[in-house]
Amino acid sequence: MNNFIFQNATKVYFGKGCVKEYLSCLTKSANKILLAYGGGSIKRNGIYDEVIGILKETNKTIIEFSGIMANPTYAKVQEGAKLAKENNVDMILAIGGGSVMDCSKAVSLSARYEGDIWDDFWARPGIIDFEPLPLGVIVTVAGTGSECNGGAVITNEVKKIKTGRDYPKLNPCFALMDPTYTYSVPAKQMISGSFDILSHIMETYFSEPNEDNVSDDIMEALMRSVIRNLRSAIHNPKDYTARSNLMWDSTMAENRIIKMGKKCDFECHNMEHQLGAYTDCNHGCGLAVLHPVYYRHIYKAGLPKFVRFAEKVWDIAREGRNDEELALAGIDALADFIREIGLPTTLKELGATREQLKEIADSCGISMGSYKQMTPQEILDIFEECYE
Ligand code: NZQ
Ligand code: ZN
Repeated sequence: MNNFIFQNATKVYFGKGCVKEYLSCLTKSANKILLAYGGGSIKRNGIYDEVIGILKETNKTIIEFSGIMANPTYAKVQEGAKLAKENNVDMILAIGGGSVMDCSKAVSLSARYEGDIWDDFWARPGIIDFEPLPLGVIVTVAGTGSECNGGAVITNEVKKIKTGRDYPKLNPCFALMDPTYTYSVPAKQMISGSFDILSHIMETYFSEPNEDNVSDDIMEALMRSVIRNLRSAIHNPKDYTARSNLMWDSTMAENRIIKMGKKCDFECHNMEHQLGAYTDCNHGCGLAVLHPVYYRHIYKAGLPKFVRFAEKVWDIAREGRNDEELALAGIDALADFIREIGLPTTLKELGATREQLKEIADSCGISMGSYKQMTPQEILDIFEECYE
């Protein structure tokens, strides 16, 4: 294992009924709460009423910050920070998925900062150091794992850059995770969110070191869990066992545990984020299009791990195949799974145009953790291969 320091500051309350049981206690110290949420799903599924009921019982002043869109923009962050400052709030309570949580993290920083948080943090990491406004989250969809890390992915729509930064002080103080809250998530979002989980694990698994390490073992179990439980949740959306496993898989993929001792790749995320900046496509859908093609480009440089992936994650027997054939069979199994669960397989389906591809490719970050470092030309080749 490589050397590491591990800490996770978020306290998790997991399970059916956890919001009712713990929310009033967790918000005890706050008087004015900025209630952050998305486009209104929480009003339709009853979560809003439940939360408001609890906060009103304890006489909180509630300032609503609604309409946070998928792929949250920097303009939306500024709107939230203005509200938080004007009302002098002392806590943010974010109810939603990655977009609401990430936007709220950025608001919690921006609300305590006089400078331009994009220029001074997202554009050049590492130069800020202060305590953000306390943030608690209520997770309503599994996928990003944002509830247990300091990462926040924001889109600067003017500059056409979508990028994430991880600032440990942005870990939420608490995360309430009731798997029954995810029952109402539309099937398409549930599936793309689950693919995002799988992607986070693969982006970590397919990186150095290759020698025996517990992180890789944990990741194989997690990948099998995502595949098995996603199939069950598609079959029965109210399968509590499946929903609770997916919810915790999502947290486990991004709470830093599996990254310990690993280099991490995340080149597909770099590419998807820029596709998102140009097309506003769904994050998990973009990842599904890119992964198999990207892996066919890099597998030779990480052959033993791709062989292990085929055998341990997809249960593919060697049956006379050599290492290369076995590695490719694992990537084919991944591509088959993407088709089976109905995710898109071309960039055209995501709304990208062929003319945009070069500009998008040139704007992508290059990962230092990949088995094979990309060039803008190879990224463009990958985009062209999965265009239609
Ligand atoms: O906006 P509302 O009306 O609430 O609807 C949302 C939204 O349309 C809906 N939804 C959420 N919970 C629901 C529900 N609908 C019905 N019932 C519920 N219980 O789901 C839709 C998508 O929500 P969103 O938050 O956008 O999805 P997700 O959790 O996939 O987040 C995506 C964002 O997170 C970023 C992505 O890039 C993207 O911007 N990521 C954040 C990461 C992090 N912070 O660690 C890591 C990831 O790799 C990722 O980049
Ligand atoms: Zn992701």
